[in-house]
Amino acid sequence: MTAPQPLIAGNWKMNGLSDSLTEAEAIAEGAAQAKARVAICPPALLIPEMSRRLAGSKVAVGGQDAHWEDAGAHTGDISAPMLADAGARMVILGHSERRSGHCETDHVVADKVRASLRAGLEPIVCVGESLEERKSGRALAVVTGQVRGSLPAELAGHAFAVAYEPCWAIGTGLTPTTAEIEEMHRAIRATLVEMFGATAEDVPILYGGSVKPSNAAEILHAAEVGGALVGGASLKARDFLAIVQAA
Ligand code: PGA
Repeated sequence: MTAPQPLIAGNWKMNGLSDSLTEAEAIAEGAAQAKARVAICPPALLIPEMSRRLAGSKVAVGGQDAHWEDAGAHTGDISAPMLADAGARMVILGHSERRSGHCETDHVVADKVRASLRAGLEPIVCVGESLEERKSGRALAVVTGQVRGSLPAELAGHAFAVAYEPCWAIGTGLTPTTAEIEEMHRAIRATLVEMFGATAEDVPILYGGSVKPSNAAEILHAAEVGGALVGGASLKARDFLAIVQAA
């Protein structure tokens, strides 16, 4: 059995103005021969133009969040059908910055996943423990609990990815050891198989949190790591492409 293609997704967060689109074009050019699947999730306002410029390239465009309803009175929010209409094919959901900064619970994340499936988007569902949870030995229980709570049964038969992002590793330069990453990814895999059966063996489990060119190869070749969700290092084509090539 051949291993599924890894996925390297860039999460630009609240970074990037229209002049950053040239960086995305450079990424698409450099990734043309990549073995991995590649995606960029820019701020929502850049999605329509980025999708136009990257059309026909290897790089998919994704959103960073979507509302759980398809339309309605939700000032300031963006729905999954809007993302799809703008050219997005994927969407990051349940990122720790959404969970902590916008009070998103597992229940809310699961509803957002359902909305993304209705819109035909591939969700990348994020989970990860806090430093305090890791220090107190609860990391495995917390993260597998998030997997159970954030992934609805409707995902069966759909393309989706899970991203393990320890909160304390995001934007800090800190990373878990390879053994810690493998232990967590194995626990997530076992939970996915329990929930969705053998087909979940192929669901990519991405690692995220301070992935950079210097640590990408080791992380990406760890057991059960099916790609990376990259924040800061995805903003510069040179760094992001080095990570893409390491997959
Ligand atoms: P980082 O962010 O690579 O800047 O640590 C990763 C993420 O939050 O997705």
